[in-house]
Parts: sequence; C-alpha cells; structure tokens
Amino acid sequence: MRAEFTQGELVELLGREDFSPIYAQADQVRAETLGDTVHIRALLEISNHCRRMCTYCGLRAPRQNLTRYRMEPEEVVQAACEAHAVGYRTIVLQSGEDPWYTPLMLGQLVSAIKAKTDMAVTLGCGELGEEDYAFLKLAGTDRYLIKHETADPDLYRRLHPDSSLDKRVGCLRTLKRLGYETGSGFMVGLPGQTLETLAQDLLLLASIPCDMAGIGPFLPHPDTPLRDGTAGDAELTRRCVALARLMLPHANLPATTALTVRGDNGQVFSGGANVVMRKITPNCYKRMYEIYPAQLPDTDIPAQRQQLEEQIRSLGRVPL
Ligand code: 5AD
Repeated sequence: MRAEFTQGELVELLGREDFSPIYAQADQVRAETLGDTVHIRALLEISNHCRRMCTYCGLRAPRQNLTRYRMEPEEVVQAACEAHAVGYRTIVLQSGEDPWYTPLMLGQLVSAIKAKTDMAVTLGCGELGEEDYAFLKLAGTDRYLIKHETADPDLYRRLHPDSSLDKRVGCLRTLKRLGYETGSGFMVGLPGQTLETLAQDLLLLASIPCDMAGIGPFLPHPDTPLRDGTAGDAELTRRCVALARLMLPHANLPATTALTVRGDNGQVFSGGANVVMRKITPNCYKRMYEIYPAQLPDTDIPAQRQQLEEQIRSLGRVPL
C-alpha cells in the first residue's frame, strides 16, 4: 500500500507535464485509508517571542518592528475551552522558541486543558531536550509538530544560522521514540532549493516515519533577509502533498495555512490532504503572529468553525 520511491523517481514525478493521474491516485489512497473525514484543528498562537534567527521567518529574534506578546496561561485555557465548546477535538498550541514558557509551564497548560476538555493537544514550540519532551508527554501532550523545513543540510544551515539539520532530525526521532504522534514538514520554493531537495524532503518524512506532515509554500516576508525571494509555487506544493500521501498512506496531511491563504483548499483536499487548521488566536494578538505576510480575518471561533464545516461539506467530505 505504502509507495516506495527513489530520489530519481520522485524528481521525475514532481516534474511531470501531466500530474493529474497522481492526484487521482493520492485521492484514492486517502479515501481508502482514511475515508472522507476532514479533521479541523484549532490553532492557538500563544507567544510570538522567538530566540531563533531563521532567515525566512517574520518572528525571527532580530526583527525589531514587531510587537511581541505572550498569552497568559488563563487566556490559553479559556480559548481552548471556547474551541472545545464549538466542536473542536484537537488544539494546537504554537509559539516561537520562547524560553519564558518553560517546559513546566507548557506541561501545566496541557494538563489544565486536558482536565477541562477531552481534546487532543498538540504542541509546536520548537527544539527542546529529550527530558523536556518526555515530561510534556507525561503531562498529557498527544502530538508534537516540528518541521524539518528542508532536508538539504547546507541550505538548512544557511536558513538557520543557529541550528543544524542533524539536531532537527534528532528531535523528530526522539519524539517518535517517546511515543508522540510526530509531525514534520517543509517549505516549497525556498531560495536555492531544487526538485532533488524536495525529493529528499519527501524521503525524510517517510524515513522518520512521520504521523503528520505540513507542506507549504515559502512566502517572502518583507522584514526578513529573504524579502526579495519568490513565493513558492502552489502547484508544486500540492504535488508534494500528493506524493506524501502515496508514501505515507495513513499520515495526517493538512492543507497548510500558507497554501490556503492564497485561495483554494478544495484542490489540496482532492489531492491527498485530510486536515485543515483554523486560527483561533484572539484578535489582539493574531496580527502579531506574522510568520509570513497574510490578510487575516478577525477571529470568530463559532462562525469560522461553521463556515469551514460548510466548505468541507460542499466538497463532499465530512468535517470532524
Ligand atoms: N513562508 C512560509 N512558511 C513559513 N514558515 C515560517 N516562515 C515562513 C515563510 N516565510 C513556516 C515554517 C514553520 C511554520 C510555523 O511556518 O515551515 O515551521
């Protein structure tokens, strides 16, 4: 069932003139392994402080013209309860790498949310030590997202002057070993990236093997060193999602926010994706969590959940 490709085969597939048979195959694999359900996840951005220097990201530490915020733990739990009340079954707590939120505090947040709701809790709070990941697992964390961003070690080093691909992959393997549902992912269209790189990205997802993978286009942010870059191609991004579906039939593959800020999620859902995330970050913070430029609507947790459910039904799929 699970397709195995070589790097050369993936490069050839990614570059095909007509990709429609692969989209159809990815859609079929998704239907057979996961059915028609589209999972809607609540995404809460709890802090935009970040100690890292990633050259593509609008939250990078050296950026001066950004107001930084941290949600208070009570605000986080409150927002989680609101999401639960309108039907969300998973909440993703995401932040920059913010040492103010110690693993102990994150663990307490997770426990508090688990005590009040029956939601699955996913964390996306960056690189931590093995003992911290182990502690967070004990505190009730179900899933952890930490994208490898690019599988080319040299490109990785240029984009992340303060880390290495080895370190990142080490985190993914640790999480997996600790029993987390583990999520990686990468960006499409990074300056210096080739189809060979994307093939390596897909092979890396399969080698972990990841339970979730967020694949999104690179979008240049004007206040970062990569401001003059070209945005990643949406079609190439969707091709990567479809191939990821063939290689990881059971994985949760979101139509990433970066892809959907530019329109159509119908197309991604017909090519293998089965998850979508909705930001529930309060309005007073939402626009400060500016990883890449995006026009964001005001947060209205019940209305936006309902709207998304309707969109999913109109695609013939079942929202959950
Ligand atoms: N364009 C697209 N995606 C980005 N991310 C960060 N910066 C950008 C950008 N400029 C993605 C990374 C990160 C996730 C939170 O957002 O993949 O893991």
